[in-house]
Amino acid sequence: MTTFVNRVFSGVQPTGNLHLGNYLGAIKRFVALQHSHECVYCIVDMHAVTTWQDPKELTNNIREVTAAFLAAGIDPNKHIVFNQSQVAEHAELAWLFNCVARMGWLNRMTQFKDKAGKNRENASVGLFSYPNLMAADILLYKATHVPVGEDQKQHLELTRDIAAKFNHDFAGRIAELGLGESYFPITEPIIGGPAARVMSLRDGSRKMSKSDPSDMSRINLTDDPDTIAKKIRKAKTDPEPLPDSIEDLKQRPEADNLIGIYAAINDSDKETVITEFGGKSFSEFKPALAELAVEKLAPINAKIREYMADPASIDAILTNGADKAREIAKNNMGEIRESFGLVGAIK
Ligand code: AMP
Ligand code: TRP
Repeated sequence: MTTFVNRVFSGVQPTGNLHLGNYLGAIKRFVALQHSHECVYCIVDMHAVTTWQDPKELTNNIREVTAAFLAAGIDPNKHIVFNQSQVAEHAELAWLFNCVARMGWLNRMTQFKDKAGKNRENASVGLFSYPNLMAADILLYKATHVPVGEDQKQHLELTRDIAAKFNHDFAGRIAELGLGESYFPITEPIIGGPAARVMSLRDGSRKMSKSDPSDMSRINLTDDPDTIAKKIRKAKTDPEPLPDSIEDLKQRPEADNLIGIYAAINDSDKETVITEFGGKSFSEFKPALAELAVEKLAPINAKIREYMADPASIDAILTNGADKAREIAKNNMGEIRESFGLVGAIK
């Protein structure tokens, strides 16, 4: 068995409207993993352009996700923070993975079906092969762990399938080159906790999303305290008091969502929140949630604004991060080219 260094990789698309789901499901967990792992955090701008992005807004959104990473507490000096397009090896490996992954595997991806909608003929080819680029992001760094929200589970399974197929197909060659028994790790997803899937504040059956036309459906990381409080006050609920058991939450999607949000913001769990608020009315719970959300999000919001006021320093952090990422990427890509037998591989 080949052993791999523990390394975390994750990515967030710079497609605007970073929201509480992105924060609790992903970014907050990125911060925590810095203490135990070597981490690589990427603003995946090449994933963003699989759907139309206004160029000026895209540039701004790349900086805004970076600002959110830094504001949340990611340390670009101890770990790697960069934007994907600055490291060309991501595109190169994605191409090779287009040739490893099978049509049938990609055809099963539910996110493509959701995003392409009814007009599949008009979706970009990039949107279809998007999961191969994601596998390339992860495996270029031989990442062993990937923290993401629940919606990315299927893409991570595909990443594992690609790694296993490559390891199998090139096993002889990898051994000959002295690159170990398996070249890629079979990456473990880190999904879970009370906010793995934060739902819309307007509809407990739909996920909180950047693209929801209703701004009231999500709490944006750039919302000011009054807006955060108003959105929580107006969040859809049912007329019953909060239940006193987890079991009863199953039939109450809106209550389940708000309790999950409270638990995740407070580094706690749903059981503990129910112990405190079970049997109480939403008119008591919502102000407590609003207060907690404002207390934890307002400082992040203020820091995002500070960083955004100095775009040159954000760009410098990204350039520096890309230099560090490229060092790992270049070395691994050389070995991957050699595994395929492509001439001119870096020795
Ligand atoms: P994206 O904005 O699609 O690049 O997502 C960035 C990260 O946020 C990914 O790890 C997603 O799984 C996570 N995420 C997005 N929406 C939600 C949500 N509603 N609840 C929990 N996690 C989410
Ligand atoms: N597809 C992910 C999303 O939409 C973003 C992403 C791209 C990603 N590459 C990644 C996440 C690699 C984790 C690891 O949220």
